[in-house]
Amino acid sequence: MRYLVTGGAGFIGSNFIRFLFKKYGDDASVVNLDKLTYAGIRENLAEYEGKKNYRFVHGDIAKPEDVAEAYKGVDGSGVDVVVNFAAESHVDRSIDDAAEFVETDVRGVLVLLEHARRAKLSLRRFVQISTDEVYGSIEDGSFTETDPLQPRNPYSASKAGGDRMAYAYAQTYGMPVIVTRASNNFGPYQYPEKLIPLFVTNALDDQSLPLYGDGKNIRDWLFVDDHCAAIDFLIEHGTNSEVYNIGGGNERENREITHKILELLNKPASLIKQVGDRQGHDRRYSLDTRKLEAAGFKCDTNFDAALEKTVQWYIDHEPWWRAIKERSAEYRAFYEKQYANR
Ligand code: NAD
Ligand code: DAU
Repeated sequence: MRYLVTGGAGFIGSNFIRFLFKKYGDDASVVNLDKLTYAGIRENLAEYEGKKNYRFVHGDIAKPEDVAEAYKGVDGSGVDVVVNFAAESHVDRSIDDAAEFVETDVRGVLVLLEHARRAKLSLRRFVQISTDEVYGSIEDGSFTETDPLQPRNPYSASKAGGDRMAYAYAQTYGMPVIVTRASNNFGPYQYPEKLIPLFVTNALDDQSLPLYGDGKNIRDWLFVDDHCAAIDFLIEHGTNSEVYNIGGGNERENREITHKILELLNKPASLIKQVGDRQGHDRRYSLDTRKLEAAGFKCDTNFDAALEKTVQWYIDHEPWWRAIKERSAEYRAFYEKQYANR
């Protein structure tokens, strides 16, 4: 199969490309189209550079000429499947400035879809990677795929725009679109601005862990390998025009995750620093995953084992995260000040 993966230099995209090569070997060819924003790290996939079935295209999904180049595939013969991971992905950054979020997470999706339509490409699948955040927050129960979308922050509002644009191309033009809405991922190569890698790397450095608000917000944690396997499953067995929730089934309060990380690293609870709350902070995310299970896929990774494995990965890959943290020191200082003042 010939894949076009966008955002493949980021966290989930790089894990997905590695997953494809491990599972399909030379039967898969992958073009990785990535803009290399602050979150894109080309070296994440250094092991595949120079291989005949992998091609990195440095470009922007919102630029038609970059998109046209990537759709050519690794050898000019085109692609069968598009998986669009490319996005601005961090909620705190969207609260500070949403413009890039709209540009990439809405307009970028349009440009990717529109190229396929105008060029009359016969794709097998176009997978739009959406998020559980598009539903908004839920106190009790779980969201099903037919629940209304009520995004509550600029990131999730732009993701909802991309999600519905992809759906519209399925309905209007018959494009073979599948939309996936996954819960909070964790695992190797996650940028250390997100809760788990930020707290693990801060704790390793004996720096404080800035827990927002009362620390009782709930997220449903999904190990990135399960997410990759679910996407691969849906490419093979999903139904076009359908939306699928992908949840890990591991709902935890943030404070529980925080204590677990400290325990695994044998660090004191005194490192926890309760800071002001995120503006519009969603209280709880929860997904009903019966549709995906009925199709034949269930996430089955043990959460505690996966968290331990993830923490170990950060211990073993200090140069990787330290370089990023040094580059982003100014950004962190800015956010620390903002949260301290709330
Ligand atoms: P990430 O921030 O780690 O990576 C995003 C990647 O997209 C980076 O490599 C970046 O350079 C690239 N990118 C950004 N703008 C681009 C553009 N205009 N053109 C091309 N490339 C661009 O993000 P992630 O956590 O790996 O998330 C990947 C996708 O999964 C996103 O669409 C996100 O909304 C979705 N998602 C993430 C989670 C999660 O918990 N991380 C959960 C559900 C859904
Ligand atoms: O639910 C899926 C979404 O999960 C994805 O669509 C997003 O791309 C991804 O960033 C993630 O969004 P969250 O806002 O849930 O993730 P984040 O890691 O930023 O925060 C997780 C929880 O931890 C949230 O309740 C806020 C809290 N938090 C986060 C940070 C960074 C803290 O308490 N302190 C922090 O420093």
